[in-house]
Amino acid sequence: MYIVRVNNLLLFKPINLMKKVNLLPITLLFIILYATACTSGPSSQETKNTTNNSPGVSKVQKPDSLTQVYNLGKRLYNNSCLPCHTTSSERTVGPGLKGIFERRSVDWVMRWIHNSQKMIADGDPYAVKLYNEYNKTAMQSFSYKGKDMHALLFYIANVNRGDKPYISLDKLPRIKD
Ligand code: HEC
Repeated sequence: MYIVRVNNLLLFKPINLMKKVNLLPITLLFIILYATACTSGPSSQETKNTTNNSPGVSKVQKPDSLTQVYNLGKRLYNNSCLPCHTTSSERTVGPGLKGIFERRSVDWVMRWIHNSQKMIADGDPYAVKLYNEYNKTAMQSFSYKGKDMHALLFYIANVNRGDKPYISLDKLPRIKD
């Protein structure tokens, strides 16, 4: 600190420390840091690419019209089925529905959704076994028809396919119930 006199005023002036510090090493440090940041550029690009490859973000172009069907099905599923069924194999109130079309035909699942209790009463062996396994908790019936029923089944068939193109219901493996 030093004192200057301007007219009749005495002024305190702080010593400018910066002038006394050699700025060269700091400048060099910044240049090095900047250069490192630039070379690490591609790796941050890689991180972005990984995010794009994450499951659920499709690499394959899926037709918009089918995505609309899928989204309608998802909405119906989330409202009506998700309270009791995960889309994975995790059992909650009912079985997880992953792979259901490897166990049962589309026709069976449709009849089940419409009236599972009738199928149990009629003695469908799979239905009776399942019903007993789930402590005789009856699943409620749903009256989905036409476009809605199709969308619901389409969603269940496709929810676990990740990046693979959509599979239509008639391309599912034929199951003999
Ligand atoms: C209130 C709970 C509940 C709701 C809601 C429900 N389910 Fe179920 N579901 C069950 C139970 C419990 C079973 C096991 C069989 C039984 O106890 O009748 C079952 C069984 C099934 C099965 C046979 C699963 C297998 O692994 O073989 C299918 C398919 C199914 N449900 C589809 C659906 C669909 C689709 C919906 C929505 C439209 C739905 N369920 C809504 C409770 C429910």
